[in-house]
Amino acid sequence: MDPTGIHTLWVNGALIPWDDAKEHMLAHTLHYGVGAFEGIRLYPQENGTSAIFQLSAHIKRLFESSRICSITIPFSQQDIEQACIDVCLANKLSSGYLRPIVFLGAGTLGLGNKELPIRTAIIPLHMDAYLGKTGLADGIRTTVSGFRRPNLDAFVSKGKICGQYITNVLAKRDAIQNGYDEAIMLDDHGLVAEGTGENIFIVRDNVIFTPPTTSPILPGITRLCIIEIARQSGYTVIEQSFTHDELWIADEIFLVGTAAEVTPVREVDHHVIGTGTIGPITKKIQTEFFDIVYGRKIFNETWSTPLQ
Ligand SMILES: Cc1ncc(COP(=O)(O)O)c(C=O)c1O
Repeated sequence: MDPTGIHTLWVNGALIPWDDAKEHMLAHTLHYGVGAFEGIRLYPQENGTSAIFQLSAHIKRLFESSRICSITIPFSQQDIEQACIDVCLANKLSSGYLRPIVFLGAGTLGLGNKELPIRTAIIPLHMDAYLGKTGLADGIRTTVSGFRRPNLDAFVSKGKICGQYITNVLAKRDAIQNGYDEAIMLDDHGLVAEGTGENIFIVRDNVIFTPPTTSPILPGITRLCIIEIARQSGYTVIEQSFTHDELWIADEIFLVGTAAEVTPVREVDHHVIGTGTIGPITKKIQTEFFDIVYGRKIFNETWSTPLQ
């Protein structure tokens, strides 16, 4: 059992006790990082039930990330979606976070070996506000990292792939060590790319900008939801890159992601953003987002999958 009382995992097609999850030290992904993962949230609903937000979109991306790694998941997308539901029900979870992961197990050592067992697991966890409750309400302090997102020919940016998180982890650790909450990463041209685990939006003169998916960013599922929500609320959203100093003169900045939800940014390297707290457009979009994920408002019926 984990310290929060979660006792059951889904591993390779079966629900198993938490302590029975074991893997060999020669697991290929442990050494070389070739594997894919997801992060999905489960929210309690207004009507007393619980629902997984954007389940199909996350599992579709898990399959796409695996394809990028030339890994064929030995289950259907529908099987994995059902497994996500089953593991929540087995743990009687009403809110939390799911971490599906697909990785390569042990075989002979070496980069070229393709005869490796494919492992699929879903780990349920409890998760509160990823960047803190105060951060969610009033904004977080960020720093622009010296670690850049790689050039598009130096990595595979459209997959959520295990080994690609090394510089994100180092950037995040540096930011925390220097007293910030999160790091913002630039691309190799010096344009703003994303947070270490979030996509980024800025507001200038009531227009919302976010880097396009041709940038070296993860095509975030929350990013797409936010673009739709903002447009539906009457805002213009432009997918266009912006520079480091455009962060400093933005009226508002916010980070979005499954873990971070919609988190305002109140500071970038000691430059105060807007009025130094959550901006009005960020507040409106954040409120809409929470109304939707908690089932207080239906925006698109396919976005939430009830547990049943
Ligand atoms: C690097 C990175 N960018 C953006 C995101 C946001 O993606 P999503 O909204 O699909 O969670 C994540 C989180 O998965 C991430 O790890």
